[in-house]
Amino acid sequence: MTHDAPEPGPLPGGLTPRRPTPADHARIQVALAEWWGGLGGAAGAQQRQLLVPRLFLQHFADTSVLAERPDGTLHAFLIGFLSQSDPETAYIHFVGVCPDGKRSGVGSALYAWFFGLARSAGRSRVRCITGPNNRDSIAYHTRMGFRLEPGDTVDGDGVPIHRDYDGPGLDRVSFVRDL
Ligand SMILES: CC(C)(COP(=O)(O)OP(=O)(O)OC[C@H]1O[C@@H](n2cnc3c(N)ncnc32)[C@H](O)[C@@H]1OP(=O)(O)O)[C@@H](O)C(=O)NCCC(=O)NCCS
Repeated sequence: MTHDAPEPGPLPGGLTPRRPTPADHARIQVALAEWWGGLGGAAGAQQRQLLVPRLFLQHFADTSVLAERPDGTLHAFLIGFLSQSDPETAYIHFVGVCPDGKRSGVGSALYAWFFGLARSAGRSRVRCITGPNNRDSIAYHTRMGFRLEPGDTVDGDGVPIHRDYDGPGLDRVSFVRDL
């Protein structure tokens, strides 16, 4: 389905993009523990790691990308897919940029590639979610043109929250962006 998807384009800073493989699972797991600034403590790190099982690298690799430095180490990654159930929708499941690499245009370059891929596959919108305590993610997605979908409550900063979205106590913020 995605065999004719655009190849990841050039990235800032001499980074090389490529599709992930299952062999990348271990270092993405390390990134999920270390790149979120300790968000949610040890439990938060484990939750993130469990949200990116190996299957994403086996079955969603064509719609995902990672960025490597010249020495081959991991700098950033994006895990995405085309919805099987909604032909209008593409979904970004996870994105991470290493702490030293933030605010240098890498996240937006990976998103631009994914938006192009989604458009070329006929998708008209992109969706993703994040945790209400991930203020950096909310700021970034807003800057990237996503709308925050109305939830069932609003927090003190006016952010719409979907309570128990992913289970008891697992509140989420839901984003959508037209392509
Ligand atoms: C969120 C994240 C992916 C953004 O990637 P990035 O490479 O730092 O973002 P970019 O440099 O491409 O920034 C794109 C735009 O968003 C803005 N932006 C990025 N992070 C921001 C933040 N924390 N607060 C406000 N604006 C932010 C940038 O200023 C830029 O806007 P501009 O075009 O006006 O200059 C990255 O910070 C990250 O990996 N964070 C930790 C993991 C995480 O929270 N992932 C998302 C949830 S799964």
